[in-house]
Amino acid sequence: MVTSTFKQLDTSKMPKQRRFMESTKKELMYSGSFGAGKSRIGCEKGLFLSLKYPGNKGLIIRKTFASLRLTTMDTWTRYVCAPYLIQSFSMETHICKLTNGSEVLFIGLNDSPERIGSLEVGWIFIDEAIEFTEDDYVMLQGRLRYNLVPFRQLFSATNPASGQHHLYRRFYLEKDDDREVIEANSLDNPYNPQDYTDNLMKLKGRYRDRYVLGKWVGYEGLVYDIVDPLELIVAPFEIPSHWQRWASIDFGYTNPFVHQWWTKVPDNEETEELHGYYMYREIYLAHHTIDRLAPKIKSFQDPVELTYSDHDAEDRATLEERGIPTDLADKAIGPGIQTVYELFGEHQIHIFDGANIETDEYLSEKNRPTCTAEEFANYRWSDSKTNANAKEIPVDKDNHGMDAMRYFFHSLLGQGEPQHVMAKSRSNQDVLVVIGQRNWGKELNRRNWRKF
Ligand SMILES: Nc1ncnc2c1ncn2[C@@H]1O[C@H](COP(=O)(O)OP(=O)(O)OP(=O)(O)O)[C@@H](O)[C@H]1O
Ligand SMILES: [Mg+2]
Repeated sequence: MVTSTFKQLDTSKMPKQRRFMESTKKELMYSGSFGAGKSRIGCEKGLFLSLKYPGNKGLIIRKTFASLRLTTMDTWTRYVCAPYLIQSFSMETHICKLTNGSEVLFIGLNDSPERIGSLEVGWIFIDEAIEFTEDDYVMLQGRLRYNLVPFRQLFSATNPASGQHHLYRRFYLEKDDDREVIEANSLDNPYNPQDYTDNLMKLKGRYRDRYVLGKWVGYEGLVYDIVDPLELIVAPFEIPSHWQRWASIDFGYTNPFVHQWWTKVPDNEETEELHGYYMYREIYLAHHTIDRLAPKIKSFQDPVELTYSDHDAEDRATLEERGIPTDLADKAIGPGIQTVYELFGEHQIHIFDGANIETDEYLSEKNRPTCTAEEFANYRWSDSKTNANAKEIPVDKDNHGMDAMRYFFHSLLGQGEPQHVMAKSRSNQDVLVVIGQRNWGKELNRRNWRKF
């Protein structure tokens, strides 16, 4: 029985998909942002060529089989290729044989490079083509030599990357009549659920340009250019009471005052989904005195082990009087950024969606960031034309959440000046201990050490 998910594709609301389907260029690319309908139209085109030329051979490929199975292959079996068209689908070879004699092969390039060497196919659909090197791409082109069909085509779908990417050069800069690129963006696809579109609309700056509008823009100059915005923001969850918690402060009045609360998954409780550090709450408010802010901070009564703070003596003293003791943060800019950057590389930093407790209307009206998450896309190194040390210092603007985050991680984990602490020895004697800064806050608390 043909189920409703296998209705013939209606491209009337998506004319770019239609153009992609009808193009006979030898090399074709659908360039689009998140949810722009790329995988769907690539699979549909593959099915069309398989049905039009009985006995055809097609290849659907991504960089890894794991990602192919979860995305493109799922689209194929769920929406595109109706069961009545399939004669067999081997879960071992990943070959889908159609009743008209055509075959479609699903491969992850990294997992089965040897299978590709001897292939001869009539069409290839590369999904997420930016993951492929130029060598991979050219090698695949060489597999397109199945001569039992009169027409062969290589088509790909991809999120945009930077303007330096080889696919950008190939499709945009080199003039070649055998190639065509079709551009679409997330907003072109009326079939995306509203909440999905709403979430995408929260992305700002260059992330928005690339992932929502589908532009080929680079992250050159961005300090945290490796951050994947969709991985950074996570759905909130209840934090178990035994997890450690810390806080971090960047003072400000004209600029926002930022107070972040952080926690960490204990090492022995880490899972693939849950790992590293989570900023679970923040205050991000301009034009608030410490007197007004202190009760807000106190109201949460979080058992934070330490609050790392910016160095303003008066503000720190006021907080202390209100029962919020702080420790001086290690504010070194370069090494601090390095510490944070490395953690991003290890996928250790996350922020709860909606962590900010209150949106500052003034900042919002001025179109400035209203929370830490919104600062990433514009936090960049200063321009080399105006500053001789350009690469070493980020532009000092809308960076207050960035600073608080850096204070936290670098004070907790950085290799700063050694600290002198008084510790209780096993025989309960007070001893002076000198330790590097890495983890010292944690140790201090756990072993009942006191700072000297
Ligand atoms: N013409 C269409 N008619 C009906 N549904 C469509 C159409 N095109 C796309 N869709 C649906 O829209 C959703 C997003 O499409 P698709 O997965 O192809 O987007 P994508 O650009 O590959 O997304 P991603 O960036 O996540 O890889 C899917 O559920 C898909 O089935
Ligand atoms: Mg896709």
